[in-house]
Amino acid sequence: MNEAPTVPPRVAVIVVAAGSGTRLGAGAPKAFVQLGGRSILEHALHAVAGMSDEPQVVVVVPDDRAHEARGILHRVIGAGEVVVGGATRQESVTAGLAAVGDAEVVLVHDAARALTPAALFDRVVAAVVASGDGAVPGVPVADTIKRTDEGGAIVGTVDRSELAAVQTPQGFPAAQLIAAYAAAERDVTDDAQLMADAGHPVAVIAGDPLAFKITTAWDLRRAEELLRPASGTTRIGVGTDTHAFADTEVPLWVACLEWTGERGLAGHSDGDPVAHAIVDALLSAAGLGDIGTTFGTSDPRFAGAHGEVFLAEARRLVEHAGWRIGNVSVQLIGNRPRFAPRKAEAEGVISALLGAPVSVTATTTDGLGFTGRGEGVAAIATALLTR
Ligand code: CTP
Ligand code: MG
Repeated sequence: MNEAPTVPPRVAVIVVAAGSGTRLGAGAPKAFVQLGGRSILEHALHAVAGMSDEPQVVVVVPDDRAHEARGILHRVIGAGEVVVGGATRQESVTAGLAAVGDAEVVLVHDAARALTPAALFDRVVAAVVASGDGAVPGVPVADTIKRTDEGGAIVGTVDRSELAAVQTPQGFPAAQLIAAYAAAERDVTDDAQLMADAGHPVAVIAGDPLAFKITTAWDLRRAEELLRPASGTTRIGVGTDTHAFADTEVPLWVACLEWTGERGLAGHSDGDPVAHAIVDALLSAAGLGDIGTTFGTSDPRFAGAHGEVFLAEARRLVEHAGWRIGNVSVQLIGNRPRFAPRKAEAEGVISALLGAPVSVTATTTDGLGFTGRGEGVAAIATALLTR
């Protein structure tokens, strides 16, 4: 096995999923607990399905879950064996090994390491093929480790540089692993230990932080957080609004400021296009609809309401949905009012309302279009939300 293979090695992957999950305490065997909308076992099998060479897959489960596991295995991999495990992990691996066909390399993997990347499986296979020995992934130990006596007193410090926290999948030449399990004289928690007992060298290769084992409720929570898509942590939204100047005598409100002596805008509310464009951008970024669907343009509560009412409510809605406003940028388009002298004042008011930096700029359209002809004004806003 020391020469680079011209054909892919025959690989079997045993996924042990027969534990009860006592420490997780989720009321079901751990591998069948839901994580981000699918079972922990299903996540683990997705990684196996992503391996570059197609392995034989053996899933080891509790007796009463065999039927369910067959469904999952069929859906994710399309083929493979489901066998019933034992009272210890070692017994479960033994049961899995009995179902392994004619493989050269066997990988043993904890279903509980649900987020393990497919690439780690490939790296373990490659290491076993290259060396002809066992290979297990491991990560450096970050904490200082103390040895304590029964009363809890420290009796020594372990040299951290000598330590590796080992993960799965652990890979071995099939014949060695089968012999080591057959000769096992004690109960161990991982396969590398049995191989060492049998006198076989096993190397630690670089593991992956994502291969951590879901053991407690805290670990499950961490896995759920890691599964959130990146787009779930930052979102942007855009909003526009347009109002015509009113035929009747009404006050002008733009950017939450009253502009005395200026002709007002028509609208169900005060017609403030800057505030309304920002509200649309915020709601859109959070996926909460728009100002029309959320506030109802005919709702009497908003008749004549100023922009601050809409902005405060939009902020409440997006924060209630779990978002924080990152920043807002808005541009007013029109000939009037002359905005520059009150830019800082407008930004101060709206920033305070939203609890986030807001920049407001203004531009004209060189005499073109309805804004250029002075028939009305428009505004375009962009909002950034973060989790
Ligand atoms: N395992 C198994 N058969 C057992 C015990 C464990 O197949 N009799 C599997 C688990 O399903 C898990 C992996 O071995 O994927 C690692 O075990 P562990 O994290 O200890 O899982 P549980 O034994 O289920 O959890 P607990 O010890 O908290 O009960
Ligand atoms: Mg256990």
